[in-house]
Order: sequence, then structure tokens, then C-alpha cells
Amino acid sequence: MSAPGRLALGAAALALAALGACAGSLPSPTTADATRAGVSLERLTAGRGRYVAKCSSCHAPFAPTERTADEWHRALDDMADEAHLAASDRELIGLYLRSLARR
Ligand code: HEC
Repeated sequence: MSAPGRLALGAAALALAALGACAGSLPSPTTADATRAGVSLERLTAGRGRYVAKCSSCHAPFAPTERTADEWHRALDDMADEAHLAASDRELIGLYLRSLARR
């Protein structure tokens, strides 16, 4: 393989690794999170999915533990318009962030 070819491949691998690191480092909700929040694990898991889909296009998604539940409430108010959130997405994303927030 030519040197430029190897370089391009290396750059692609790096880009993939960076992408994977962002979404992959977001915690997946556990049964304990769902029980504590009083919601189903399915809804929390769906919320994580909508969060990645809606909130990582402009900046890397913040980990839920970087904010308290109250702070997430305010941040989501700020960002709902930016992300053009449907009411259902806003509810699911809010559930995920507040349930896994810093305590
Ligand atoms: C259209 C681009 C865009 C999208 C989509 C977006 N954001 Fe942001 N976000 C920004 C910009 C720009 C800033 C920095 C300026 C600011 O605070 O308004 C920011 C800042 C933030 C901050 C730090 C400031 C704070 O209020 O604590 C958080 C947290 C945040 N975004 C969360 C989210 C969440 C949650 C979503 C999904 C609902 C989201 N963002 C979607 C553009 C975006």
C-alpha cells in the first residue's frame, strides 16, 4: 500500500475511534436506575438513544453525571429549540438525563 493510502486509512480509523468514544462513553441505564427513577428500563434506554441522535450533532454529548437533575432541566429548556425536539423526545431525553444525573 502507498504511504498516502496508509495515511488516509489511519485518519479514517482515528475518526471512527473518536466517534465511538463519544457515544460509547455515555452510560447505559441499568435496572437500578429505572427502579430509582420509577420508570421502565425500556424508556430510559430509548431516552439514551434519542439523546445520542438529537444532542450530538453540534457538540459531543455531555455525560449525564456532568449535571444535576435541576441543571439538566434548565439545560434541556435551553437546548430543546436548538435541537428541534418533539415533545416525546424531550420527555425521553429528560428522563434519561435526570435519572442518571449527578446526585
Ligand atoms: C443546533 C446545535 C445544537 C444542538 C442540536 C444541541 N446543542 Fe447543546 N449547545 C449548543 C451550543 C452552541 C452551546 C453553547 C452555547 C450555549 O450554551 O447556548 C451548547 C451548550 C450545551 C450545554 C452547556 C451549557 C448548559 O446550558 O449547561 C449543554 C448541557 C447542552 N448544550 C446540552 C444539549 C442537549 C441535552 C441537547 C439535545 C436536546 C443539545 N445540547 C443539542 C448547540 C447545540
